[in-house]
Amino acid sequence: MITVVGIGPGAAANQTLAALAAIRQAEVLVGGTRHLAEFPHFRGETRRLNADMAGLMQWLEQNQPRQIVVLASGDPLFYGIGKRITEHFSGLCAGGGKQNIRIISGISSIQYLCARILLDMNDIYLTSSHGRRPDFGWLLQHEKIAMVTDEVIGPYQIAQEIVARGQRRRMVIGENLSQEHEQIICLNAEQVVQRGDSHYGLNVVVILNER
Ligand SMILES: C[S@@+](CC[C@H](N)C(=O)[O-])C[C@H]1O[C@@H](n2cnc3c(N)ncnc32)[C@H](O)[C@@H]1O
Repeated sequence: MITVVGIGPGAAANQTLAALAAIRQAEVLVGGTRHLAEFPHFRGETRRLNADMAGLMQWLEQNQPRQIVVLASGDPLFYGIGKRITEHFSGLCAGGGKQNIRIISGISSIQYLCARILLDMNDIYLTSSHGRRPDFGWLLQHEKIAMVTDEVIGPYQIAQEIVARGQRRRMVIGENLSQEHEQIICLNAEQVVQRGDSHYGLNVVVILNER
């Protein structure tokens, strides 16, 4: 059985009981260095995730009878490894089903940030610039946007796109959410551009119309 477990934004307090139970029962724990470090007391086998997704899929296929838990940050099906794994295995099980795959949802970094800033998630457009370039022309037609980012397209680059379109927007930048150096700042896009491409920790960005 392959269980993809969402471990939330980082802090143990944000992990679900279902996630912890699955991890306790795992024979093998698969995850990035940061994720595996969250479970120092795990006594089974561990396998470190790297960029070789094809290699991981092959290994999962060969080892599916074992109790494998793949760790994912936030929620596995929100721009996470859950999509890749469910897509890969959908054709392999008898009847095209996904009987041998289980997903345990987690608190997404976006959900966590919205809760911290008391922002309802109704009508919010959720997306990602993590390893991809969004179509900003289309994206910035939305009133309320939340996105996970990466080091290539982060707060500064997003602010530049907003300013280049002459839009007046507020940006909420949530860094290292739920972790020791958590920081949440609220600035308008011009201010983010003025700060320059300064270093941001792991972050998500919420974009709102200025009022
Ligand atoms: C591959 S995406 C995974 C998103 C994840 N599945 C989720 O639901 O939050 C990785 C991105 O999520 C965001 N992220 C994950 N954990 C975070 C945290 N603790 N603080 C801020 N951003 C975080 C960052 O934008 C990071 O680059």
